[in-house]
Amino acid sequence: MSVRLRESRRIARHERALAYWAVLLAMGLSLWVGMTAVPPEWMRIPALFVHLGGVIVGLGAAVLLETKGLLWAVGRNTLEDVRRIEHTVSPLAWMGIFALLASGAFLQPDLTNPLTVIKMCAVLLAAMNGVAMTRLTDELARLPAEVRFGALPLSMRAWSIWSATVSQASWWTAVIIGMINTTTR
Ligand code: HEM
Repeated sequence: MSVRLRESRRIARHERALAYWAVLLAMGLSLWVGMTAVPPEWMRIPALFVHLGGVIVGLGAAVLLETKGLLWAVGRNTLEDVRRIEHTVSPLAWMGIFALLASGAFLQPDLTNPLTVIKMCAVLLAAMNGVAMTRLTDELARLPAEVRFGALPLSMRAWSIWSATVSQASWWTAVIIGMINTTTR
């Protein structure tokens, strides 16, 4: 492995470590505000509006990226297509997560409800997996643009499928529980 590659991997590892801490901090802050603040009644509708906007943008970005990945896996598009969409939708996914954490804090989450606890675990998993996926996308960025998914080493294929599955499962769990909580409130 070249010195430059080793150095760039080291920097990426440090950035990821910072990002994991940033996610934990943001999640902790959101939950702390959610449990302690008593927002005025008028804030509920604007907060729900921002929350739903966050769902549309964040989930939309995740679905788009993983659909492109799936199309690459079945030979319907190239790795270059996946990389291009990843550049566009990654900032959107983080904007969505940030909007959800910020607005959720003013929706008074009920952490005595086990479903809400499961939802928060799913939210944390979605965000942590988002950070972890940057390692996978860094590795994919070093491959030739036209490489077939089937030509990758088994470990890399399993890693890609696992990351996409965790992403979809955690996003949909959070969305479904959020909707159940709203309708049963
Ligand atoms: C991946 C992140 C998240 C997703 C996908 C998500 C999704 C949703 C959805 C779909 C709803 C239903 C909205 C509606 O039907 O009008 C909802 C409601 C809610 N969310 Fe989230 N949410 C996320 C993060 C959070 C966080 C971090 C918090 C709190 C800190 C939170 C607190 C709430 C609360 C309290 C409600 C119920 C609002 C009500 O009382 O009607 N959510 N969420």
